[in-house]
Amino acid sequence: MTADAVTMDKIVSLARRRGFVFPSSEIYGGLGSAYDYGHYGVLAKNNVKARWLEAMTQERDDIVALDSAIILNPRVWEASGHVAGFTDPLVDCRTCKLRFRADDLENAQCGRKPSKHPGETDECNLTEPRRFNLMFETHLGPMHETADKVYLRPETAQGIFVNFKNVLQLARRTPPFGIAQIGKSFRNEITPGNFLFRTREFEQMEMEYFVPPDEADRWYAYWVEERLGWYTRYGIRPGHLRVREHDADELSHYSKATSDIEYLFPIGWSELEGIANRGDFDLTQHSEHSGTKLEYVGPDGERYTPHVIEPAGGVDRALLAFLVDAYDEEVVAERERVVLRLHPRIAPVKAAVLPLIARDEQMVSRARSLYEDLRRRHVVEYDDGGAIGRRYRRQDEIGTPFAFTIDEQTPVDDTVTVRDRDSLAQERLPIGSVGAWLEDALERPWQPPKDDA
Ligand code: GAP
Repeated sequence: MTADAVTMDKIVSLARRRGFVFPSSEIYGGLGSAYDYGHYGVLAKNNVKARWLEAMTQERDDIVALDSAIILNPRVWEASGHVAGFTDPLVDCRTCKLRFRADDLENAQCGRKPSKHPGETDECNLTEPRRFNLMFETHLGPMHETADKVYLRPETAQGIFVNFKNVLQLARRTPPFGIAQIGKSFRNEITPGNFLFRTREFEQMEMEYFVPPDEADRWYAYWVEERLGWYTRYGIRPGHLRVREHDADELSHYSKATSDIEYLFPIGWSELEGIANRGDFDLTQHSEHSGTKLEYVGPDGERYTPHVIEPAGGVDRALLAFLVDAYDEEVVAERERVVLRLHPRIAPVKAAVLPLIARDEQMVSRARSLYEDLRRRHVVEYDDGGAIGRRYRRQDEIGTPFAFTIDEQTPVDDTVTVRDRDSLAQERLPIGSVGAWLEDALERPWQPPKDDA
């Protein structure tokens, strides 16, 4: 019997217990909403990024990769509109000294009476809203003068736009073509929170797709479907995803149209990724501010400023969605089991190799040699610590899809058991075929075993 019992607290607790994610600088009391990734978190996050880059570049001919600097010439952010407009309205409460986003008070709690929203009690004493720029400032060099002020990038996208000409010339592309980038972004969010959902330092995976202007609407619709398909391909249940088109008054300053792919997080339906039709805003702005014309000139002399379709997702937020969607609790033989039913290509560890009895030399030597063979191609774990049931339980909680157990029968007939994380089915395999079996199992189409409700 399974139940969709996931809550954000359970995810936070599992992530910590199993070493996926820890609060950052914890021994100094932490730093509000900053997190560090442990071993399994790094592996799973790397898998999310690898699947994205694979889908964007390896599986297509029209998109190339880029890794631009985090600190760019500050004029980039003047041209992009971030210096003037990347702001949130902020209010302070003079009574409880807390700070809130003025446009999100209905989701905030009053500092004195948490059942109320800020401004709802007689004690609340809110200031007038002020615009607060979300970009982190720093200085180049030692002088800390205004002239040296630079910003940590609040999105990876602008590093792509300012490289448009390089890629056009050097990668010899013609529209439609795209540039994909994964990297850290920084926003001084007024109200970060909900674990990895909103932090001040996070990773983005963004792709800017440059198209002839009259094809923009078609490619916008195309990329909404493509990105939706990517999440379901890697195991998010379709019923937990929806597309929400922005109303005109919600659109960012650069956007002609935006659709959010929303996921049903434990905090409710929330943005997972945005797909925007940015028109020619960015290339035109950077052409004007830099004096370098960013346009496409065809072989017959036709010239135009391409329009841009941008699928922009968050790595950490995507990982959170994969964890939430995979989390399951069930009762097996009267014992509760917590299991992460992650897609095998997202799971941090692909298989565990477990000698049934850690003191049995024959079992151990066969298990070690199987492990040494498998680890050449995949992230696999060798575990001989404790009762077999506890070892299975540990692998279930980190989402390892397969476990190979070397038992009494192995020295007799050279077979091992393979246990399937989701069905708990066990079968025997010749030890010599385990490598090929695993290769095949990781390639097989995979369906989430949980109800899509
Ligand atoms: N270039 C467009 C852009 O940056 P965005 O909607 O502001 O658009 C894209 O960000 C994605 O980045 C979001 O859908 C979300 O997944 C992720 N993201 C944005 N702010 C974040 C934050 N403070 N913490 C974690 N992820 C964030």
